[in-house]
Amino acid sequence: MANSSKTVAEQRSYAILNVDAARDVALAWIAAMDLEAAISFGLPEIDDRYHIWRIPLLAKDRNTLIGEVVVDAYTSLVYEAKSTDKEMLERRLLRKKEHPQSHRVRKKQYKVSTLRNTIACGDSEDILPQLPAESVDLIFTSPPYYNARPEYSEYISYEEYLLKMRKIIQLSHRVLNEGRFFVINVSPVLIRRASRSESSRRIAVPFDIHRLFIEEGFDFIDDIIWVKPAGAGWATGRGRRFAADRNPLQYKAVPVTEYLLVYRKKSAQLIDWNIRTHPRQDLVQASKIKDGYETTNIWRIQPAHDKKHPAVFPEELAAKVISYYSFIDDVVLDPFAGVGTVGLAAVKAQRRFVLIEKNPEYTAEICQRARIWLGKKEVEDVFLIDCPSIYEDYSFS
Ligand SMILES: C[S@@+](CC[C@H](N)C(=O)[O-])C[C@H]1O[C@@H](n2cnc3c(N)ncnc32)[C@H](O)[C@@H]1O
Repeated sequence: MANSSKTVAEQRSYAILNVDAARDVALAWIAAMDLEAAISFGLPEIDDRYHIWRIPLLAKDRNTLIGEVVVDAYTSLVYEAKSTDKEMLERRLLRKKEHPQSHRVRKKQYKVSTLRNTIACGDSEDILPQLPAESVDLIFTSPPYYNARPEYSEYISYEEYLLKMRKIIQLSHRVLNEGRFFVINVSPVLIRRASRSESSRRIAVPFDIHRLFIEEGFDFIDDIIWVKPAGAGWATGRGRRFAADRNPLQYKAVPVTEYLLVYRKKSAQLIDWNIRTHPRQDLVQASKIKDGYETTNIWRIQPAHDKKHPAVFPEELAAKVISYYSFIDDVVLDPFAGVGTVGLAAVKAQRRFVLIEKNPEYTAEICQRARIWLGKKEVEDVFLIDCPSIYEDYSFS
């Protein structure tokens, strides 16, 4: 009942709460195209099934509809693929006949990325928009951990954490090449009890993340279970009480698994198209996977530890993902790079890397390690975004 006076946008906790805010986003979008003098707006409409605002675009001189801007209601980012593009708007403004060819489905060209090995220091939300569209061939990452205790968490709430993940998934969608893969390593989070009178809680993060991928234009491909040795989960404390008391209902499984969720960017092209139209068939041949590969969705891999980072994933995990979901010379992106395990595995597999990490100490560590992965000569070609110079020595206290 308390909700009845709230608008749909307020009930859903959208970032865009009203028509004025929706128009402001559309205005910024149109201004970036230098078309604000020629275009006005119709009444924005909210579609809460898809969590979007649609803002009609009108030719100012004659008040007729010439297109629309579609905005994500949660993140306030414009869906470029769903909005009318600049070329089309200009044609309609000039009342040019639409070329019959523009109605035909354009034949999709295979896009070879020109990106160099790149290390960026900053928030992925700010760095990803600086990369060209469709410029990476695989994304593999493990996102930051959500901690529900406000004193340890950088997120005010779980909803805020999911919103951040949604933004990164959405921005990653733009930079990912046609029909390519986004693999994410994620697992439920255990929230320890704050006092003896409370119980611990688990948050099923992978299932919420899954929904975000589907809503942001990805197809679900696989759920791979990374299994660690039995002792690995004991430190969580889960299952100890049951081991002592053996009461039914108190049973708690000791977690020794993590998920690798595999998604493909939605595409009209089959995976076969990505293989057939690759312009370097010699690289396709050289990328074929040798015997001894993982045949089921259960991968047994030892966890890794690192002196400089508390939550790295094993190089073996990254090596497998990279070899199964990319070709030699492809560009592999990790938007939450840590100390750059994806970079190391990419170099060893003859792929290029794009590593984004917001903690400058970890970014500096990646720069240090990149010298070892690449050698003195090749490291000079690494493209640095907001990083300390790769040629200097760093010391961190
Ligand atoms: C789970 S760790 C990844 C570790 C990495 N897989 C490795 O093996 O080194 C997640 C990393 O994401 C970084 N991070 C968190 N939020 C970020 C953001 N918005 N943009 C870029 N990096 C971020 C954290 O500083 C942390 O190092």
